[in-house]
Amino acid sequence: MVGLGPRKPPSRKGSMVDVPKDLIDEIKKLEEHFTVDTAKLKEITEHFINELTKGLSVEGGSIPMNPTWCMAMPTGEEQGTFLALDMGGTNLRVCEIILTDQKSEFDIIQSKYRMPEELKTGDADELWEYVADCLQQFVEAHHPGENLDKMHLGFTFSYPATQDYIDHGVLQRWTKGFDISGVEGENVVPMFEAAIARRGVPIKLTALINDTTGTLIASAYTDTKMKIGCIFGTGCNAAYFENTGSIPKLAHMKLPPDTPMAINCEWGAFDNEHKVLPRTPYDIIIDKDSPRPGQQAFEKMIAGLYLGELFRLVLVNLHDNEGVHIFEGQNIDKLRKAYTLDSSFLSLVEEDPFENLSETADLFQNKLSISPNRSELELIRRLAELIGTRAARLSACGVAAIAKKKGYESCHVGADGSVFNKYPHFKQRGAQALREILDWPEKKNQKEEDPIEILAAEDGSGVGAALIAALTLQRVKDGNMAGILHPENFK
Ligand code: BGC
Repeated sequence: MVGLGPRKPPSRKGSMVDVPKDLIDEIKKLEEHFTVDTAKLKEITEHFINELTKGLSVEGGSIPMNPTWCMAMPTGEEQGTFLALDMGGTNLRVCEIILTDQKSEFDIIQSKYRMPEELKTGDADELWEYVADCLQQFVEAHHPGENLDKMHLGFTFSYPATQDYIDHGVLQRWTKGFDISGVEGENVVPMFEAAIARRGVPIKLTALINDTTGTLIASAYTDTKMKIGCIFGTGCNAAYFENTGSIPKLAHMKLPPDTPMAINCEWGAFDNEHKVLPRTPYDIIIDKDSPRPGQQAFEKMIAGLYLGELFRLVLVNLHDNEGVHIFEGQNIDKLRKAYTLDSSFLSLVEEDPFENLSETADLFQNKLSISPNRSELELIRRLAELIGTRAARLSACGVAAIAKKKGYESCHVGADGSVFNKYPHFKQRGAQALREILDWPEKKNQKEEDPIEILAAEDGSGVGAALIAALTLQRVKDGNMAGILHPENFK
């Protein structure tokens, strides 16, 4: 029996196989590369706090800290029927949300459309035509022949956008592998409106929102302890509320200093200048080969889009370059294809319940036509654990930084996204890292809540978008016109 370093697999007791010495050495090297210890987590968190503050300053920093003009938490009493359009990294979703007269309750109907891969690197017209097409299909299916010009729409556009108004947003840069020409530096709202006008769909865009802000608001609708909204999915990011008095870059607006303002952090850009994150040679390759090198340094170590690619790059390197030559004599052409493995592949490796890792062996055979030997399977499993654990632990630094900055000693954090919801042990690993960063004492029993709990969120891009539209309409009714560009759209 050979020990492969500390780990607590949920259903396997550990390796019972004789792993050769050179492979054990390789595993140790990987552990050194990918392990982030408590001291480093704390150092990252402290730097993160400074960067959050810098992003709010006039000079700005790497983290954009975008004011969203979402200026209130929901009360649970919001009502009305809204449309929501969600343009995430993988799917496009159209929803109709009814905020009912029962406190904190809603009904939702929705249709999902796959974002065609070629659209992500196409041009702006194709993108907006596709978006308008999906919206039109939805409206025709659910409201044939009806006049919907009183229907308000929240558009969840989950990319960094500068918003001078809630119904306005200039795309700062594409993220998540998107590279559509003609949109960066432009206000996306008129582009969207022109596309739906061409199709005669009479919908009013009331709010452009980020998925994190939506997640925060949707979660706060049903849970008053919610203070932070996070997405751990194809991309990663968070939103929380500041008072405008703490946002020097909004001083020129002359808002009362205690005015609440949701901030879309865009924390994926944390440490773009590479001061603190422990990047491995594999992280450097991911960045270099991405459509936006130098951007989204933090996101590229955490988000679902990149986890499978990190794993693939390590395996290819161990086959080609390191002394061990894993998969020796086998054709690894399929593994050579960039982005061929997504994070669900890693999830399956981590979930393999069998001592002999037979499910992992099947996965490699079926997807990559590779037959790893028993020792290689042990390395593969350990590598997946290392990459998944690092992602969860680094994510916790962002949550801890916001909590420390705001002085939240206890609160709930609403989280959504495929990595949070589906990646095995992500939640427990994140919670453990928070405990280490914030020096919480060990729990007395398993049922005891952590002071800061990261919980599965309500649907931010649907319900959250509807709520933000509702809150904005209410604000206009109350005569608070801050951050409204087209008042005529709010009737
Ligand atoms: C985007 C954010 C978004 C996050 C999660 C990032 O790539 O820049 O706006 O919130 O992904 O979807």
